[in-house]
Amino acid sequence: MRVLLLGSGGREHAMAWALAKSPKLTKLWAAPGSDGMDASSERAALDPLDARAVAGFCVAENVDLLVVGPEAPLAAGVADAVRAVGVPAFGPGKDGARLESSKAFAEDVLLRHGRPTARARGGGAPEARAAAREGRGRCAVKADGLAAGKGVIVCLSAPEAEAAIAALAATAAGGTLVVEELLTGPEISMMAMLDGKTYALLPASQDHKRLLDGDLGPNTGGMGALCPVPLDAALLTKIRAEVFDRALKGLLADGLDYRGVLYAGLMLTPEGPKILEFNARLGDPEAQAVLPLLDVDFLELCLACARGKLRAGDVPARAGACVSVVVAAEGYPRAPKPGAALRPEAADGLEDVMIFHAGTRRTDGRWLAAGGRVLSVVGTGADLAAARERAYAAVPRVAGLGLRWRKDVAAKVLGRILA
Ligand code: AMP
Ligand code: GLY
Repeated sequence: MRVLLLGSGGREHAMAWALAKSPKLTKLWAAPGSDGMDASSERAALDPLDARAVAGFCVAENVDLLVVGPEAPLAAGVADAVRAVGVPAFGPGKDGARLESSKAFAEDVLLRHGRPTARARGGGAPEARAAAREGRGRCAVKADGLAAGKGVIVCLSAPEAEAAIAALAATAAGGTLVVEELLTGPEISMMAMLDGKTYALLPASQDHKRLLDGDLGPNTGGMGALCPVPLDAALLTKIRAEVFDRALKGLLADGLDYRGVLYAGLMLTPEGPKILEFNARLGDPEAQAVLPLLDVDFLELCLACARGKLRAGDVPARAGACVSVVVAAEGYPRAPKPGAALRPEAADGLEDVMIFHAGTRRTDGRWLAAGGRVLSVVGTGADLAAARERAYAAVPRVAGLGLRWRKDVAAKVLGRILA
């Protein structure tokens, strides 16, 4: 099979690695791809946001499957354009991608279909101020539009809420603001593969969104992830019924033929699981911790979704666990400094360790940091503690001066989370 993968981050490197394991794969292109992905894919000279160009490439090169990594090409209608020329595509169309690109749209769909979400109100700054006052400033303020998880400010007081509203209203993304009730509890990422009619759940994972140890500092795209989160069977049943069954029902009722990943960011509150956000793609860095544990041919899985032939249930996963630690540049997320030296090859031969590149560049045979999140260092093991140990043993070998990482990814021993 000839596959075109869109994207260039750590998630896409992990997807390329997973696709490349398939005996069915004969050729893998990546657009734009990255120096780090070159080992598993060939670059296609394509703008991943140019729907016509991507569709044209798929026809000209007899591509059998398009796999979309990030949200931007989905929001640009690339999957629609590729399906329109008769090529199966893994990734929702522009309509489905609005679940992620517009928080206001997601809230609207959620409320109409009665899904469990935080109480929320959308509008401009005056409406947002009124909504924040109702909770005496205890709220989450979100900007509508694609903010890659960075457009949220959690507020515990009225002055904090005022400052957050002013800050987000002033950003480009901040046309519409959404103010949500403040939720508490462990946060998990549940991702499902959808084929337009049914879904199969991937094992539960957990991101570490804050920059600093102890969940302090600003929100980031994600500083590390673990998989699986030990969920009680009753809680999983509840998540299926209250989140994914209803989400699918809502998508079908709205006439959306959604083929791709539906990612639900969930807060496990004392009142039950509540949806923080939907994304239309795999999480990053969750994908780097989830894909190594799958006990299926990932290419076949994506193809089944794209063709509407998915088997419902759980996606089979291996026993064991996976921990992914993100190495970021100093200054991330505000102003990452490029140029720090990396030694990803120092992990070659390390047992149960993998390196996925995000923002790296190869110059004269040397690897340099060239982005905010630079690498994911992934350890696998019999349990989370073993996986964590392997990942952290490798991090200082591959990364040093000018780079930072959290020291506490998967450090909390997770007891089984009950319904
Ligand atoms: P989001 O992009 O909506 O997932 O939000 C990013 C992060 O902000 C989440 O991972 C949570 O940690 C936090 N957050 C978002 N909404 C809420 C809420 N209603 N209550 C508490 N924390 C929230
Ligand atoms: N890691 C969170 C996300 O991908 O949105």
